[in-house]
Amino acid sequence: MERFIFVLGSNWQLSIAELDNYLKYSSNQGKIIDYSANIAIVEFEKLHQDKHYINKLMEIQFILGGCQKIAQIYDFIDINTIQDAFPVQISEFRYVEKIRKKILAIIDNIIIGKKGIFPKVYESMFFAVSIYPNLYDDEYYSEVLVKHLLPFLNKEIMEILKQKGAVKALYYQYPEKYIKSGNLNPIFPHHVIRFELLKENRAEIIFGFTEEGLYIARTFTTDDPNFKKQIDEEKPHKEFKSAISPKLSLIMLNFLNLFENRQSKKILDPFVGNGTITLFAIIQDFQIYGSDKDIQKVNNTIRNIHWLLEFLEEEIPPFTHQRILKQNARKISSIFEPYFFDGICTEPEFAPFYTEKPYYSQVKELIDTELTPLYDEFFREAYKIIKTNSRICFISPIISTLDGNNLQVNIEKIANKNNFRLVPILDLNRIPNKFNQKLKFRKQHIKSIIDAKKGQIIKRKLYVLEKIEEK
Ligand SMILES: C[S@@+](CC[C@H](N)C(=O)[O-])C[C@H]1O[C@@H](n2cnc3c(N)ncnc32)[C@H](O)[C@@H]1O
Repeated sequence: MERFIFVLGSNWQLSIAELDNYLKYSSNQGKIIDYSANIAIVEFEKLHQDKHYINKLMEIQFILGGCQKIAQIYDFIDINTIQDAFPVQISEFRYVEKIRKKILAIIDNIIIGKKGIFPKVYESMFFAVSIYPNLYDDEYYSEVLVKHLLPFLNKEIMEILKQKGAVKALYYQYPEKYIKSGNLNPIFPHHVIRFELLKENRAEIIFGFTEEGLYIARTFTTDDPNFKKQIDEEKPHKEFKSAISPKLSLIMLNFLNLFENRQSKKILDPFVGNGTITLFAIIQDFQIYGSDKDIQKVNNTIRNIHWLLEFLEEEIPPFTHQRILKQNARKISSIFEPYFFDGICTEPEFAPFYTEKPYYSQVKELIDTELTPLYDEFFREAYKIIKTNSRICFISPIISTLDGNNLQVNIEKIANKNNFRLVPILDLNRIPNKFNQKLKFRKQHIKSIIDAKKGQIIKRKLYVLEKIEEK
């Protein structure tokens, strides 16, 4: 069975949850059979049997917010063999050499051929080796993999290509200073595009580690971060200090489980702001609706949407003004019909923009007197306008206070009160567990996942809720 490496986004837990949800509910069913903090190994039920499976992989890449690259796996080497060939300290050089030869034989076998990394020998060939460790802060990565495995692979693969008939075989050279310090990032998706590594005579060869061993793969699709960045940064109205990222917007949209016929699915952001979620929902083909209590924000979103459609060279439909409306989220059922929406995706009002950690009492009061009542009323209203069994993907804040506490709204309680069920974001019965404490998921059902940068005062927590069937 064909297996694929999915290179995960920086929030790897969220990326795994998004991917697992996709593999469980989309028509491209499959399973994550192994993972690290950087990659997930995926086996599809049927996708690989499709003649045009690479096109399908490209579609999957486009849909997922937390996937940097997708690569096809050609072979696997167990972790003991790798550690024998590349030990932390070499004591018996002959033995090391023998095992390294064994590894080279495996690479030699998969490098060229109809079912190989390169389909045939070309006069001029170019490759880039990307090593994805189990965890970046692993000393084995900085001391052994970067300093010894990487140069070994570069040199030996170049030799193999020449032996097989390439007149010119070159490899991507990482800056020496990063190799020396052991602090090396594999090449980024925009490098894959810039160095044309998806062409037949060029390749990014991924060496992806998990606790089990090393997967050898070739990249077939990559994220186009420039496209997302351009939309995010060039839209006329933006607010960087509070805005949600393009990646997180896409991930949230995917948790709505609307993978088929997106062009007929109606989704709403009732705290629309400058409309980031709606913009990425347009790119994903959804019918979008939005509202905000602030007319300025409504106008900003409308302008951003028109700008996006022009940017995409698409026609501007006449109805944007009827779909992006001024309304308080506490009353949205007065402007939208009952059971109208297939999903709601939103990041509501959080808190003032704190430049320093607030006092506990200040945040407690904010949560009790403002956020909890607002979210409660929103869920009550949402219940009326969303279809039964449809989902809400909701972000709620975790606020760090001066005394070291982290305060948050009890979303599960509010949701249950308003007939929504909290859906586990990740079901660990579906993926293998790990020994390393940093890679282990602690609970059986993960009910929410945090998305935050180090030291942020307000962190985002993502929840998925489903409207319970009416009796
Ligand atoms: C965190 S921002 C949303 C940012 C948005 N995701 C974006 O990309 O710009 C929250 C928005 O909720 C709006 N808002 C706050 N309270 C509201 C309410 N009761 N009803 C509707 N909108 C509200 C604010 O005007 C603000 O635009």
